[in-house]
Amino acid sequence: MPGFELFGDAERKELNDVLESGVLMRYGFDGMRNGHWKARELERELETRFGVQHAQLTSSGTTALNVALAVMGVGAGDEVIMPCFTFVASFESILASGATPVLVEVDDTLTLDPTAVEKAITPRTKVVMPVHMCGSMADLDALKAICDRHGLLLLEDACQAFGGSYKGQMLGTIGDAGTFSFDFVKTITCGEGGAMLTNNSDYAKWADQYSDHGHDHEGNDRGAESHPFMGYNFRISELHAAVGLGQISKMDEFIRIQRKNHAILKEALSSIPEVSFRRIPDPEGDSCGFLNFFMPTAEMSEKVVVAFKEFGIDGYWNYFNNNWHYIRKWDHLKEVKSLYPLSDQINSALEKIQRQSFPQSDDLISRNISCLIKLTWTEEEVRERGAKMAAAIKSIL
Ligand SMILES: Cc1ncc(COP(=O)(O)O)c(C=O)c1O
Repeated sequence: MPGFELFGDAERKELNDVLESGVLMRYGFDGMRNGHWKARELERELETRFGVQHAQLTSSGTTALNVALAVMGVGAGDEVIMPCFTFVASFESILASGATPVLVEVDDTLTLDPTAVEKAITPRTKVVMPVHMCGSMADLDALKAICDRHGLLLLEDACQAFGGSYKGQMLGTIGDAGTFSFDFVKTITCGEGGAMLTNNSDYAKWADQYSDHGHDHEGNDRGAESHPFMGYNFRISELHAAVGLGQISKMDEFIRIQRKNHAILKEALSSIPEVSFRRIPDPEGDSCGFLNFFMPTAEMSEKVVVAFKEFGIDGYWNYFNNNWHYIRKWDHLKEVKSLYPLSDQINSALEKIQRQSFPQSDDLISRNISCLIKLTWTEEEVRERGAKMAAAIKSIL
């Protein structure tokens, strides 16, 4: 992360194709577009590179989740199990579907704890939503086995793990559906954008229609299309897709650089006995967008954060004290701050979240420090950074 660091001629060329035709929309205007269908092309690229049958682009990673939940038939009365360490988009998309988010603990993979998932299943549970946080994956074998045993659907949020894999299969293609974000700080960026991947052809067809107001996309006259069901506008524009098309041509290179820089930093910290690393269910598949490590106590992590600042190191987070990624700071969710009334079912589920505690996750997230991996560092800079990080950590021991 992030692709914007290496934005250049490939993206400009794709964008210019769109600007020259002036057709900024992904559908229609066939005669004016000089043969350019950037969104379609990016979808085919995703399908080929990820070895999946269908890719549906959307306006964001959040709307990719909205679409995935909709095509899975998730709605009022259903429960979706999600981790308490994720991005706010997880509960936003579940609430938007009318379903109830059920938050559970993460384990030392920093993603869904399969034991906690199994305990949280009720007759209302429909979907289990692992979030492959900070570049690496959940224990997908364990989660798939739980879903199979209980007849549940698996929705992988792979927004932070683009290019990662699990036992030879790309993340985002292993569950019933998977999602990616191409917002400005993701591994590849469209500026704003997202995608839902699936091998289910019904889901693919419904996603295509649902993300464009429920239009059936049959024939050449948009105004004459019928509507098999109600939808929304979650479309990506041709401009955004064009940027993504330029970026995806460099995907392998981005992942190679991330892995190389990650390995150098990890090695620099490995000799410090107080430092431990997250468990990675398939180390070969880590996309290496972040390096995550744990200190023995929360107090020591806080001291490391201060020391990093003093040593001039940037691009790291202790998510326990950050408002974006952990339940502890999601007061707007816990206090049910909504602009509009929510259903009784959702209100009572959110009240329950207020009273819920997450001791295992509190321990892990408070001891964790997550460091960004940049693409533009030279090898010398990464080595210097690793040495500085090690010195900063040793200074507090
Ligand atoms: C795990 C996760 N899911 C979903 C999203 C939402 O993506 P977007 O910003 O494209 O809506 C993000 C964005 O940061 C994310 O990190």
